[in-house]
Amino acid sequence: MTVSECRSEDVPALTASAGALFAEDGGRHDAFMDTGWPAREGAAYYAGLVDDPDSLCLLADGGAGHLVGRLRKPDPLRPDAVTAVLESMRVAPERRRQGLGRALFEAFVAWARERGANEMTVQAYAQNASALAFYEAHGFRPFLVTLARS
Ligand SMILES: CC(C)(COP(=O)(O)OP(=O)(O)OC[C@H]1O[C@@H](n2cnc3c(N)ncnc32)[C@H](O)[C@@H]1OP(=O)(O)O)[C@@H](O)C(=O)NCCC(=O)NCCS
Repeated sequence: MTVSECRSEDVPALTASAGALFAEDGGRHDAFMDTGWPAREGAAYYAGLVDDPDSLCLLADGGAGHLVGRLRKPDPLRPDAVTAVLESMRVAPERRRQGLGRALFEAFVAWARERGANEMTVQAYAQNASALAFYEAHGFRPFLVTLARS
């Protein structure tokens, strides 16, 4: 199993994995999610992140999984927090429960530590039980809860 930082030639594989995540997760759990966004805008967005020193774009096994992490901009309301945000991660269905997610997450933790982060956050849909189980297994606990109604 290999985990590598994306270079510009990896943007198509990253965009494809992120697009599959939109379809599987946002498309299923959020009636307002625009699942066409990755095909329209994803390549430019992820190319920008690959070039951004405050972002981390990882691929596992050349595209079987991905993780995107970002350092949050300083927040004057929480001046002592240095927050690494796990923006997005996915492992292809046929490769799940084989440790790829763990390997991606460990690389994210190492990157966050190098950048001086003292906090990590991630958002997940309340109905995404497998993602919540994965994050809980890696030490995350609920902090802020978004409540929604139509
Ligand atoms: C969440 C996800 C990335 C986990 O990737 P993975 O490669 O399957 O995870 P790992 O094999 O490294 O699992 C590590 C641990 O997390 C927990 N875990 C992972 N998937 C789980 C599940 N479906 N149910 C319960 N626990 C789970 C377990 O503790 C597991 O350890 P174990 O297999 O020894 O029991 C993967 O399920 C996925 O891509 N899901 C769809 C996309 C998604 O929801 N992404 C997150 C959006 S917020």
